[in-house]
Amino acid sequence: MFSLLLLLSILLSNYNVYGKLINDFNQLEINSCDLFKGNWVYDDDYPLYNSSICPFIEKQFDCLKNGRVDKDYLKYRWQPKECNLPRFDATEFQKKLKGKQMMFVGDSISLNQWQSLTCMLHAADPQAKYISKRIGGTSIFTFPKYNTSYLMYRNAFLVDIKTENNGARVLELDSLSSAAQWKEMDVLIFDSWHWWLHTGRKQPWDFVQDVNSTYKDAPRLTLYEKALNTWAKRVDSEVDTTKTKIFFQGISPDHDNNPGISGSNRCQGVTQPLKSTIGVHEEELVLEKVLKGMNKSVYLLNITNLSQYRADGHPSVFGHGGHRDLDCTHWCLAGVVDTWNLLLSALLG
Ligand SMILES: *[C@@H]1O[C@H](CO)[C@@H](O)[C@H](O)[C@H]1NC(C)=O
Ligand SMILES: *[C@@H]1O[C@H](CO)[C@@H](O)[C@H](O)[C@H]1NC(C)=O
Ligand SMILES: *[C@@H]1O[C@H](CO)[C@@H](O)[C@H](O)[C@H]1NC(C)=O
Ligand SMILES: *[C@@H]1O[C@H](CO)[C@@H](O)[C@H](O)[C@H]1NC(C)=O
Ligand SMILES: *[C@@H]1O[C@H](CO)[C@@H](O)[C@H](O)[C@H]1NC(C)=O
Ligand SMILES: *[C@@H]1O[C@H](CO)[C@@H](O)[C@H](O)[C@H]1NC(C)=O
Repeated sequence: MFSLLLLLSILLSNYNVYGKLINDFNQLEINSCDLFKGNWVYDDDYPLYNSSICPFIEKQFDCLKNGRVDKDYLKYRWQPKECNLPRFDATEFQKKLKGKQMMFVGDSISLNQWQSLTCMLHAADPQAKYISKRIGGTSIFTFPKYNTSYLMYRNAFLVDIKTENNGARVLELDSLSSAAQWKEMDVLIFDSWHWWLHTGRKQPWDFVQDVNSTYKDAPRLTLYEKALNTWAKRVDSEVDTTKTKIFFQGISPDHDNNPGISGSNRCQGVTQPLKSTIGVHEEELVLEKVLKGMNKSVYLLNITNLSQYRADGHPSVFGHGGHRDLDCTHWCLAGVVDTWNLLLSALLG
């Protein structure tokens, strides 16, 4: 009953849902509060955990350990306009997922969210044993006490890249062989975008293969849309959404070229959230279009806009690279991504 009341109190809109109705997520007729509309407020109770008690945190997200001294960025809580976001209840979360497997599929931004979640869960019960292992491209984090598993499967493009006999690497827009890795999961959170921007040495393919043709390159939004459509078809035809809940992490905004910040330092030295944001992310529109066309319900974790305010939340020179490799793409932990997980937790009902 309590959780029913809680749910009623965070009434969700069907604004962010595609395919079938939101009822699939929480059995309720829902309409009013858009959790993704709101603002950041200073809160002394934040952050949600002490990153130094998260022993498995990756260096690249561990900003305090890497020397960051300003701490206000840790103190901001997301306040939706029309309702409150419930505080994170790790025990409830673990109970809800008892005997289940949750998997993040995507790039290092997925890794960022997966690690935030595992830190949040560990910090809430530091005595609970955990097992962390890696099999191929999958990291598996298990809490035996709750019999829950949180997996991270690295797959930046979702579709395949294959190497031919002559060594050429081919991005196969119409082929997706990894579905077997994820289709049996209980909760899935996908993400893909940042790698589509890579050119030159960072681009991990030489040719693009489409249904009937092979070419060198095309506008990246076009490639992105084709790949997402391949993914969408596989989800529509192979995932049983009576068992599996599916989320797509919205585009995580970087602050590499941010009109809200003057000068050329990008996110460097920014210690407070931005007061306003402008602009439309075209890739977000592509993603929304694909999700809208699907038959199965996929919930968009619409974190783009709320994260856009948080130029202060990136590792900047306190990531893995110091001044040589300013990071305005990933997010410090603790930090902004913890809020994405609060939203995920609320939406799981
Ligand atoms: C995502 O949130 C932004 C800001 O609140 C909003 O403008 C946009 O329409 C939302 N997208 C969807 C698909 O609801
Ligand atoms: C975080 O934990 C470390 C090590 O236990 C401790 O020294 C530090 O004071 C803690 N920080 C906060 C803000 O509680
Ligand atoms: C733990 O969960 C797995 C599914 O992830 C299930 O197969 C297994 O039976 C569960 N074990 C116990 C002891 O409940
Ligand atoms: C690929 O070629 C087949 C046979 O020529 C054709 O029927 C199909 O429409 C083509 N598909 C695309 C996406 O161009
Ligand atoms: C989606 O549903 C429509 C109408 O039921 C059907 O024609 C189409 O084949 C379905 N698409 C997929 C990928 O399952
Ligand atoms: C974020 O949302 C606000 C309010 O809806 C809007 O004014 C702003 O343009 C949006 N920013 C981006 C980057 O979408």
